[in-house]
Amino acid sequence: MFYLIYISSATKHMDDEALMSLLEQSRDKNLTLNVTGMLVYKDGSFMQMLEGDKQTVLDLYNTITVDNRHKGVITMMTGDIKERNFENWSMGFCNMDKEKDLPEFDDYLEKNLNLRLFHEDSKNAYRFMVKFNELN
Ligand SMILES: Cc1cc2nc3c(=O)[nH]c(=O)nc-3n(C[C@H](O)[C@H](O)[C@H](O)COP(=O)(O)O)c2cc1C
Repeated sequence: MFYLIYISSATKHMDDEALMSLLEQSRDKNLTLNVTGMLVYKDGSFMQMLEGDKQTVLDLYNTITVDNRHKGVITMMTGDIKERNFENWSMGFCNMDKEKDLPEFDDYLEKNLNLRLFHEDSKNAYRFMVKFNELN
């Protein structure tokens, strides 16, 4: 099992409808690809973790990186894992702009995602995603 985490910036403001249609499209396709993961949106930034068969994830990532709904895609982390973290999610989702009950995550994202400091300590990106999953 392989995973990949990236961050990117939305090219346009993503309203609820745009986010939901992106999510629906992703969930349908991920189900057929046996890909799972988590997508976080905050202040015009995305962070996503994808998990599944290595080549499948890399091929999907190639498709995602050229999607014109976002730009500035930076790979944060890749690696092998024994088991999925998001077994039950073809694509979990959290809109941090709406989520007011997760102040520690909000702080974390503010400091790391926006300033792109994940680059310096990219393991944080993995920890962050896994922690998200534990909340659900
Ligand atoms: C931030 C972001 C995350 C995305 N995540 C996924 C995803 O997890 N799975 C997926 O199939 N498509 C995802 N997409 C959409 C893909 O870029 C692409 O539009 C889609 O896979 C194409 O589907 P199609 O082959 O049915 O045309 C994402 C797009 C963006 C902008």
